[in-house]
Amino acid sequence: MLIKRRRTWELPETATTPEGIYRQRRQFMQYAGAGSLLLFSGGVLAGCGEAAPPAGAAAGESSSAINDPSAGLYPVPRNEAFQVARAITDENLATTYNNFYEFGSSKTIWSAASKLKLRPWTVAIGGAVEKPQEIAIDDLLARVPLEERVYRLRCVEAWSMVVPWSGFQLSHLLKLAQPLSSARYVRFTTAEQPDVMRGLRASWYPWPYQEGLTMEEAGHELAFMATGIYGKPLPPQNGAPLRLVVPWKYGFKSIKSVVAIDFVEQRPTTFWEAIAANEYGFWANVNPEVPHPRWSQASERVLGTKEEVPTQLFNGYAEEVAGLYAGLDAQSERLFM
Ligand code: MTE
Repeated sequence: MLIKRRRTWELPETATTPEGIYRQRRQFMQYAGAGSLLLFSGGVLAGCGEAAPPAGAAAGESSSAINDPSAGLYPVPRNEAFQVARAITDENLATTYNNFYEFGSSKTIWSAASKLKLRPWTVAIGGAVEKPQEIAIDDLLARVPLEERVYRLRCVEAWSMVVPWSGFQLSHLLKLAQPLSSARYVRFTTAEQPDVMRGLRASWYPWPYQEGLTMEEAGHELAFMATGIYGKPLPPQNGAPLRLVVPWKYGFKSIKSVVAIDFVEQRPTTFWEAIAANEYGFWANVNPEVPHPRWSQASERVLGTKEEVPTQLFNGYAEEVAGLYAGLDAQSERLFM
């Protein structure tokens, strides 16, 4: 008899009403004024409203997505080991309510993002690796096992979604990259396409968007590279064609539209950390007991519902990932901010 150990994210589906017709617009990090970031703005704003659905905005309906040569790869088989106890967020909500600052600080960037050029698209793998290489996205997709996983997504702004990502475990890419033993961190970099990314004109932001993980975090089975969503290729607004998903950390760690992956010895300074290190640190692990300096993280709004539920340590993945941080000095490392 097969006795399957139930993991913390494998709770049975609740009776949560599936997402309906609501469309929500979130205000995550909207600076009140141009100029020198927090000095002028006083930080970021948190907000979340609902608005009428934009027509034809669902994943796969943007011009880039329609021409996506990887479309035939989807849907991919769901890995049932990765489930969530809540209903999956409505596709139209998850694909029309986005943060992608390269296209602007509004949450309705899906239309502007549809202009993102998805091919040719290469990913440069470099730094402390056996052999630096540039790999075309479609070659990469052919070399990794694609699967679907349902993960929680918890934004630092205290709202959450449940998303079915397609893609591959990041550890497959680590094997492909063959990092040297000197590598301690992985640094990810987002594409810069100034002709379509109007947000890049906001010169006070430290472009390009970069994020980082320790090698141990990157090698964890939950760390995932998304290439699709809702059984289709990722639409540009969600980070096509390649995007990191780290479900136990706040959403800003999940960097979109990745073009470079470097293995480095020094901890990289990440995009939001460069802007406000006291609010958006390198670790950014979800913890209901560690408030953001300007708001509580004790609970979260489940987008598309009227529900407000308690936030979970490591966003519900504590049993799986807490060990990653056991050897770290929580006094000197701000693991939860
Ligand atoms: N990646 C890039 N390159 N640029 C961004 O502005 N926003 C981050 C993250 N990745 C962002 C990014 C933030 S703040 C969040 S909450 C998530 O993407 C949102 O992902 P979603 O739009 O797919 O929900």
